[in-house]
Amino acid sequence: MNSTASATDKTIDETRQGEAIQQSSSQIEGGKKLFLESYGCAMNFADSEVVASILAKDGYSATTNSEEADVIFVNTCSIRENAEQKVRKRLTEFKKLKKENPELIVGILGCMAERLKKDLLEEEKLVDIVAGPDSYRDLPNLIEEVGTGQKAVNVLLSREETYADISPVRLDKGGISAYVSITRGCDNMCSFCVVPFTRGRERSRDPKTIVNECIDLFNNGYREVILLGQNVDSYRYNLSAKGEIRDGSLPTTNFAQLMEMVAEISPDLRIRFSTSHPKDMTDEVLETIAGYDNIASSIHLPVQSGSTSMLQRMNRGYSREWYMNRIDAIKRIVPNYSISTDIITGFCGETEEEHKATLSLMDDVKFDYAYMYTYSERPKTLAERKFKDDVPEALKSKRLVEIIDKQRAHSLLHNQSRIGTISTVLVEGTSKRSEEHMSGRDEQNSVVIFPKGELTKGLYVKVRIESCTSATLMGEVIESLPPHPIQKIESK
Ligand code: SAH
Ligand code: SF4
Ligand code: F3S
Repeated sequence: MNSTASATDKTIDETRQGEAIQQSSSQIEGGKKLFLESYGCAMNFADSEVVASILAKDGYSATTNSEEADVIFVNTCSIRENAEQKVRKRLTEFKKLKKENPELIVGILGCMAERLKKDLLEEEKLVDIVAGPDSYRDLPNLIEEVGTGQKAVNVLLSREETYADISPVRLDKGGISAYVSITRGCDNMCSFCVVPFTRGRERSRDPKTIVNECIDLFNNGYREVILLGQNVDSYRYNLSAKGEIRDGSLPTTNFAQLMEMVAEISPDLRIRFSTSHPKDMTDEVLETIAGYDNIASSIHLPVQSGSTSMLQRMNRGYSREWYMNRIDAIKRIVPNYSISTDIITGFCGETEEEHKATLSLMDDVKFDYAYMYTYSERPKTLAERKFKDDVPEALKSKRLVEIIDKQRAHSLLHNQSRIGTISTVLVEGTSKRSEEHMSGRDEQNSVVIFPKGELTKGLYVKVRIESCTSATLMGEVIESLPPHPIQKIESK
């Protein structure tokens, strides 16, 4: 069994644990109906918006009712075995629909499609289309192929595809915060990780298209963008290599420079980003965060383990000391910082001493928040080929519980320390728990709940924090900030 746990519900990565989200949008109109369900990380959700855009051009409108769908697409995740099991279970539910409507097309997209390729057609008989993450432009053709009575597969990975020119159809209902992909793929080869195999080589997207997408979002009322990549710190777009240098443009744009370009769009557009990589996160990035009020000061910096010998086996490219040096840099450079992390317990050969090192690193850093998992062996990874998955499941789970307990205590301490302080919160909408309350996130990425009053979403408010749980802050609004005057911004 693979356990997954998170101490609170506050970061954007919560969906990467395999929660399903059905996406629909009134922006897509057309005769045929698409039911789209996404699993996995934020990058998959962003990809589903690209898929919706491609299919909208082909006459599809999105629906949240699977029974009226002409096409069902499941955008899948392979990160841990249980993520795949969830999808397989969900597919059995679609069998009934296919029986009732033999014309129904069922497609598997994303990481499971890439990992299993055409074997998926054998294993899951109801599946008609298997499409990897770099083949979404081909979806209309694949649907057509199925129309002629065949099964259709495209799992080619690309070194160039970034979908840079596709304007994603926003599938969330909030209209305040949007994901913007800045890189695809990953070149890091952490030994436990399947992502380099399912997403292919790392590539960075043209900064001009990123900035224009963010401007477009701002002009449509969005007030937050979340820049996404498996390792945002390795973002690097090289114009000279592409022979595209134009007057005054930088030959190379790095992540710090990209963030600056996005932060300059408007002081009313807040920037968040995920995921930072300890081996690549520079002081320059931290100084850029510190230099802009509208770049959120929350940093998600997955450590995975507190033991240097373990980090070596994981092929993470840093030691405990290096990680602590990056934590010190955050504390030194970024005012009002918050730090979250990911931890894996029970990776190959994990000794009691190595486990204790993780607990002691947690004490040293005191993360505000963490995602914690037991190790799940993934086919083809370096770990699967080189090491034995030899920590018994019961021990993995026991260690996970120790880690979760510690994190819960730290999250609570962190939230308690916020009581009496003032937070700047972007109002996202009515609280899930009460109609009389609104909720939003502050610059530290904490969820804050406060009385509704006359507030509308998209405003920034100052909230005095009065109470908390380990997951949420509660408070009173002391001031609603007037928006800055610029409302429509020209594309660059
Ligand atoms: N690119 C990000 C992580 C993406 S995957 C980074 O490098 O930080 C999200 C998290 O899933 C990882 O940080 C890791 O904690 C966890 N994870 C990845 N592979 C796993 C596996 N085989 N078993 C358990 N957890 C895993
Ligand atoms: Fe996986 Fe490592 Fe790449 Fe993150 S950096 S996606 S953990 S290989
Ligand atoms: Fe899962 Fe693929 Fe993301 S494996 S975590 S959906 S990159």
